[in-house]
Amino acid sequence: MPSAWVAQWAGLVPAGSAVLDVAAGGGRHSLFFAGKGHPVTAVDRDVSALPGQPEVEIVAADLEGGSAWPLPGRTFGAVVVTNYLHRPLFPALVDALMPGGVLLYETFMIGNERFGRPSNPDFLLQDGELLEVVRGRFSVVAYEARMVSQPRMAMVQRIAARKL
Ligand SMILES: C[S@@+](CC[C@H](N)C(=O)[O-])C[C@H]1O[C@@H](n2cnc3c(N)ncnc32)[C@H](O)[C@@H]1O
Repeated sequence: MPSAWVAQWAGLVPAGSAVLDVAAGGGRHSLFFAGKGHPVTAVDRDVSALPGQPEVEIVAADLEGGSAWPLPGRTFGAVVVTNYLHRPLFPALVDALMPGGVLLYETFMIGNERFGRPSNPDFLLQDGELLEVVRGRFSVVAYEARMVSQPRMAMVQRIAARKL
């Protein structure tokens, strides 16, 4: 099941454009966008759970520890990141979007520690942090910072923003 946030704003993604699924995990968003006719690139350090299908290009890469960005010079109609945070990647994620491309980002934020993990501040967005990432370079379509009860109690921050 795709994240409700990603599903809600997927219609912003330019038709037929390439989608980058960052830290794709089991590929729920890769499959979701492939099903909507988008070629998808799925990146994760552990690609064992990713679906093998022609519309999904699988890239095995460690996105942390100072490793080089694995997709230099490539741009996408959407960059999708859910339940993952590595702040040094923010500039590469912005650069990976073509003008008119859409950033769909959703992950845990400060305050989540009261519900469990993640509780390490390295993995929790600060108040307004996603707005700061896009400031001046994107048009913000939707933004939320709130408690959710599904799939479990959590504090999340999420944004849908179109690159100028
Ligand atoms: C909580 S899962 C989220 C998966 C997916 N985005 C989703 O929401 O279904 C976090 C993912 O980040 C990946 N990950 C963690 N550290 C990574 C790294 N250094 N480089 C690449 N991927 C990493 C993990 O392998 C895992 O698939």
